[in-house]
Amino acid sequence: MHMGKERLTRGLLLRVGVLLTAVCVCVHVYLETARRGAPAALTLGRPTQPGRTKQVSAAEAGEQDRSVKRRISYVRTLKKEARKRDEDPSSPCCLPRRPHRKTLRWHIDLEPWAGESRSLEDEAERFLSYITTPQVSCASLVSREAAQQGTKGAWAACLDPKYSLTHRIHSKHCRVYSFGLGVDDRSLENSLARAGCEVHCFDPSLKQPHLQQDDMWLHRLSVDWRDPNPAIIAQRQYASTKKLATILNDFGHRQVDVLKADMESAEWKILENLVLEGVLESVGQLLLELHLHWAGFEVGGDDPSVVRFWFSLLKELERANFRLFHIHSDPAKPRLFLHKNVRNASSAYTLSWVNTEWRP
Ligand SMILES: *[C@@H]1O[C@H](CO)[C@@H](O)[C@H](O)[C@H]1NC(C)=O
Repeated sequence: MHMGKERLTRGLLLRVGVLLTAVCVCVHVYLETARRGAPAALTLGRPTQPGRTKQVSAAEAGEQDRSVKRRISYVRTLKKEARKRDEDPSSPCCLPRRPHRKTLRWHIDLEPWAGESRSLEDEAERFLSYITTPQVSCASLVSREAAQQGTKGAWAACLDPKYSLTHRIHSKHCRVYSFGLGVDDRSLENSLARAGCEVHCFDPSLKQPHLQQDDMWLHRLSVDWRDPNPAIIAQRQYASTKKLATILNDFGHRQVDVLKADMESAEWKILENLVLEGVLESVGQLLLELHLHWAGFEVGGDDPSVVRFWFSLLKELERANFRLFHIHSDPAKPRLFLHKNVRNASSAYTLSWVNTEWRP
């Protein structure tokens, strides 16, 4: 009698045990399939249409119900992972998704007037003295080599080891962008290409969209301070001008070691765009031709305001850690500053800045 009772209890326990195990396995399998299946269900799941939901069959309802459950468990898994990430900030998963997110600005900060009278004379004096005074010295200019070959050496990049360009050349990471319109002196680009830089020249007059020539890439593109109107793109099939940020993004480039641009008076608005969109932090050295014989495209106001705007843009460059190291002015150019002779200033200056905080 006693033996029989014991056998009965043991049998019961065994059955309960088997049942529990089965339940556990079921739960585990359910959770596993839910976790794996969920992303597919999320991406493939058709959008819910308000008109359709009323007619769904029982089978579909069941399927939807299950997919909702899967989604919930998927979201829970994500939350759990997120919580884990928060707890352990050192793990590699936690790099911020957009480390270079930039805050967009709407206007540049205008500098105070040079003098109380707000005269062109005061503004011109401050501006001209600023663009003719180097802020850092550079002992080894790339242009020296070009100058020996008979060209003027107006364009110069700095190879001093205290700046990164020379190291980037040695580690084969150097990248050059060159923007110009029409006939251009490409001696600097040639020197840098020979040194091993990846050189991209942008020329909107090319017949082909892209081609490789003399160790350089040529692209049928130009830089602008705004992306073109989408209606124009649709009509012309392709857009020949883009913002620098868009070009960098399209090419998958994060940095440019040397950015050279002769934009024939569009440089002011382009520079403003680079400042406002924070693109300058992707640039190692900036080589610009400034045109002073008129205000430039889409720069308005009276003469003193124009010069104050120019000066303010250059001060924004300085605030972005750019320092002037090379100045060139062709003596053959006319002496025109906003259509006048002001302090015998030239109508064009070729300037080079280095980003002293650049660590690519
Ligand atoms: C103005 O500059 C040019 C070119 O540098 C020079 O030849 C000329 O003598 C200058 N004129 C005056 C009045 O300083």
